[in-house]
Amino acid sequence: MTDLLPTAADPGTTVRLTVRSTPAGVSGRGPLRLDWSVTSSTAERQVGYEIEAAPTPEFAAGVQGTGPVAGAGQLDVVAPGGPLRSREVRHLRVRVATDAGWSDWSEPATVEAGLLAPADWQAVAVTLPDDPGARQQSPVPLLRRAFELPAAPRRARLHVTSLGVHEVSLNGVRVGDHLLDPGWTAYRQRLLVTSHDVTGLLAAGVNVLAGRLGDGWYRGRLGWDPQEDRCRYGRQVGLLAQLEIELPDGSRVTVGTDESWRAATGEVRSADLYDGCAVDLRHRRPGWDRPGFDDSGWAPVAVVPLDPAILQPRVAPPVRVARTFRPERSVAPGGAVRLDAGQNVAGVVRLTVRGRPGDTVTVRHAEVLEPDGSLHTRSLRTAKATDTYVLADDGETVLEPSFTFHGFRYAEVTTGAELLAAEVLAISSDTPVRSTFSCSDPALTRFHENVRWSQRDNFVAVPTDCPQRDERLGWTGDAQAFAPTACTLFDSRSFWASWLVDLAHDQTAEGAVPSVVPNVLGDGQFALGRAGWADAATIVPWAVHVAYADTEVLAAQLPSMRALVGYLQGRCQDDGLLGGEFQFGDWLDPDAPGDRPHEAKTSSDYLANAFFAHSARLTARAATAVGDTEQARTFAALAEDVAARTWARWREHALTTQTGCAVALELGIAPDAAAAEVGRALARLVRDAGGRIATGFLGTPLVLPALTRTGHLAEAYLMLLRHELPSWLYQVDQGATTVWERWDAIRADGSIHDGVMHMPDGDSQMLSFNHYAYGAVVDWVYRTLAGLAPDPDAPGYRHVLLAPRPVAGIDRVSASVETALGPVGVDWSTGGGTFEATYRLPFGVTGTLLPPAGPESVLSVDGRELSGSVTLGPGTHRVSVTAADIARPMQPSLR
Ligand code: BGC
Repeated sequence: MTDLLPTAADPGTTVRLTVRSTPAGVSGRGPLRLDWSVTSSTAERQVGYEIEAAPTPEFAAGVQGTGPVAGAGQLDVVAPGGPLRSREVRHLRVRVATDAGWSDWSEPATVEAGLLAPADWQAVAVTLPDDPGARQQSPVPLLRRAFELPAAPRRARLHVTSLGVHEVSLNGVRVGDHLLDPGWTAYRQRLLVTSHDVTGLLAAGVNVLAGRLGDGWYRGRLGWDPQEDRCRYGRQVGLLAQLEIELPDGSRVTVGTDESWRAATGEVRSADLYDGCAVDLRHRRPGWDRPGFDDSGWAPVAVVPLDPAILQPRVAPPVRVARTFRPERSVAPGGAVRLDAGQNVAGVVRLTVRGRPGDTVTVRHAEVLEPDGSLHTRSLRTAKATDTYVLADDGETVLEPSFTFHGFRYAEVTTGAELLAAEVLAISSDTPVRSTFSCSDPALTRFHENVRWSQRDNFVAVPTDCPQRDERLGWTGDAQAFAPTACTLFDSRSFWASWLVDLAHDQTAEGAVPSVVPNVLGDGQFALGRAGWADAATIVPWAVHVAYADTEVLAAQLPSMRALVGYLQGRCQDDGLLGGEFQFGDWLDPDAPGDRPHEAKTSSDYLANAFFAHSARLTARAATAVGDTEQARTFAALAEDVAARTWARWREHALTTQTGCAVALELGIAPDAAAAEVGRALARLVRDAGGRIATGFLGTPLVLPALTRTGHLAEAYLMLLRHELPSWLYQVDQGATTVWERWDAIRADGSIHDGVMHMPDGDSQMLSFNHYAYGAVVDWVYRTLAGLAPDPDAPGYRHVLLAPRPVAGIDRVSASVETALGPVGVDWSTGGGTFEATYRLPFGVTGTLLPPAGPESVLSVDGRELSGSVTLGPGTHRVSVTAADIARPMQPSLR
């Protein structure tokens, strides 16, 4: 094969290499995997590649290489060199063989391993002795240790994690910009360690390593049961830090947390994720984190048990400040200062004030205002979402809470001090924006932006349902509904890969998947194995694979997928079907009683079996993708069997609801021969309802794809572009800046839903203005309105399906996705019945254009007349279609 590779040089081709960070790669359990993008003025395609790995950037000695390999490569390619070792620095580079010759080597990409083995740890976790934090919210422990260095280091790394959340500093300078580190994982099995390069923060002489500890998810409030909402994971927080220093003479010094550290408390009197932070600056200890501070009055620390076997290098992206807003100021009823960020965010308010010692400042937060202009805080339930401060002097003071965040757009500041400045800091797990979308319909463009914000606000360490009330949990149902959209809007591969590791950890021995991951709800009937929630175990890995080409995630999750399907098999009744258990079902179906969101129109038993079949089928596909044909056959046969039984039993019922039809079509429950009939039934239901949404969490992501699959575009747009309640655009008209949990969260008369709920286990209240689940329709907007879809058979956008379906009323669409191969984009417009588009495909990507052509159309691609579907190669292409097929919603959108 390799004999066929060229020998000449191809100077017109350049290569950009990226190393994927994956749980297996960073923990040294598997090889590294690579992606590269190619730009070329000379070549049309890659025919081979060569990768080298070396300990130095010169690639002079110790080089391991693949040698020339034939193939298209570029995505998810295994690097030479095997798994990383602790502290190893490895440089990688690639060159490609094209039809024009060999490119030069890429710039090297460098990876550095953290501490991969339990034996690497000398440090032990420490905290404040007799810390009362297990009993009540209490002051944040301060921990410090001074040490001397004979010279400034040549190199220094700080490996740090905590039980609870932490911030560390060296000589008074904050290390890194992560917030709420180490994030939230299945703490009993997995605690993430961050490794920082701190070479520049150390000097000759005395240095101080210092840390602060918050309760975070480990010990702080989680969940809504006031009797047992604290100390879910443990009663003691603890800081574990190991600073490894290399001096100019080559000698090594290690400074770790141990018994020699000193502890005290300072101005942060309490900090809780739900309730907020209380700061009393009269308790601050100036200079405590720098050399020269006298800590002789501080207590020796207490050692906290922490098994180093659970430590793993951080693979999940850290939480950081994502955006900063200057809020508008006005006067709230009662005279407080009202701040309006203009955007619903997850984050905090930073204030600059001037007052007198003892002055207090109180900051309360809310997503929306009551009709009288006061903060609407009822939907926060028991979360206090309030930060308080007491000033210590009359100078200018910057106030910012620690170890908390709130879901809010508005804040009210009550103080006698002068408010000099205010900023709103939006935080999020730092996943890069991956796509753009805009169109001539401002409401739809804004809705897309709202969905992006709901993702940003709810990707805080784990994928949460909402960022504001006493919940903020990793609800699996919301995650599975939204995962394909999430993978398009942001590069969320490593975010999901990390969360999926926790999902597998929290699965029961029988394979039941919890309703929230990490699981803090225990093993009650709501907490485990609910249909459409548990199936996140199969749906999310598959969505990640389609979006990014990730066979490693599939291989890693396959045991978890199999276990889920095995669990479901084990729960089947004599007829080989699931039934009779409580299900969340088509949760929040707008036709369900508002106070009983699980009582949807569509049978929960039908949905449970449909998702069972779907999970079995996805497990089969995952097995195929990783080359396990035997398992693939077994699970495919199970999927067909369950689907057939489900259809035989619920066929009649399925045809009566939007969700029933959509599930039958999109989850492959209806046989192919019945698809057209189901499509017609669905279209009829949608038309009869005037485009009114009649689906909940499980049906909503599937309705428009189902209508599209069966050729009912007019009905799909009737739904998408509707403005009346319930609809996606209604909330935009109401001024929403994120996606609501309930379609009717604010009614047309401005009144706010009471959120009241009666569940089998008791009464509750549920209303959020920032739930991404219904935003899942945005995946369809990219695939169908814009016409950009990754092909599951050539994932990662290696092959794209370009099937734009224009609609009357939207005459311009622009969309792009930043794939690992480069940007894939389209701009299209319609006018006078002609559809015109410009496509951009990067090197290595092909597209199949399925133009919106009618019987009279003339299709031209790059000036040539063609017909049918057309294959597009890399480059820019101009497409026009006369007499184009433009969908016309049955009736004008109802405003
Ligand atoms: C959450 C949802 C979740 C649901 C499950 C709610 O409290 O906010 O988004 O999926 O419970 O029933």
